[in-house]
Amino acid sequence: MSRSLPTQPKLHVFPDYDALSSAAAEAVARKLRAEPETVFLLPTGVTPLGMYRRLVEMHAGEGLSFAGATFFNLDEYLGLPADHPASYHVYMRDNFYGLVDADPHRVHVPDGSAVDPEAECERYEAAMTEAGGVGLCVLGIGRNGHVGFNEPGAPFDSRTRVVRLAETTRLVNAGDFEGARAPERAITAGMRTIFEAREILLLASGANKSQAVAAAAGGEVSEDVPASMLQRHPRATFMVDQEAASAVVDAG
Ligand code: PGA
Repeated sequence: MSRSLPTQPKLHVFPDYDALSSAAAEAVARKLRAEPETVFLLPTGVTPLGMYRRLVEMHAGEGLSFAGATFFNLDEYLGLPADHPASYHVYMRDNFYGLVDADPHRVHVPDGSAVDPEAECERYEAAMTEAGGVGLCVLGIGRNGHVGFNEPGAPFDSRTRVVRLAETTRLVNAGDFEGARAPERAITAGMRTIFEAREILLLASGANKSQAVAAAAGGEVSEDVPASMLQRHPRATFMVDQEAASAVVDAG
């Protein structure tokens, strides 16, 4: 069972990472059962791995089908070929899309090797609109409060675009790259793109996310903490484990 704290957006606190991951997968599954043609906007990173594992189990064990749904990814590094082991194309294929019955024609990840990245951003944003808009967006959160690759300072009215990664983000992600140097730029869905999702779930696990979660869920709404924009969203829920919730002031 989760504990709900009286904040806006809703904050559900789970005892541990497994409970958080199961609940996140259940929320995705519920959405799919109600609306098999849901358009999802999905994250990469360490945090959602448990959710993807559980969804793959639900597909294998319970026949949960993803075949009618459409999927977009939040972001991709710029300058990486799609088959680079650290690309989000590979992450999504290996952890999710390749393990369920997702229709390859309805799976979208920004093309990090596009010759014209700006045109790729426009195409990507338009594809989301054409698909009917995002029904459910799942997010992780960076230690600096980023969502997708919208780093601190990202305009709340931004759409899919090319961004420069914060040095802190490049350091956190450096281990995925040979020579421990992460790319400098990425394509990310923008803050406005994310905000227009009809429903948003933000997942966070571990003490190293506690300050970001506290600032995003209860601090001032500011472009300095991109995830704080979710406080203005009518259907945004933070799903976090006990450690990630540890800096939130419990007003109840
Ligand atoms: P993580 O990344 O899940 O690997 O911590 C989250 C993020 O940076 O958005």
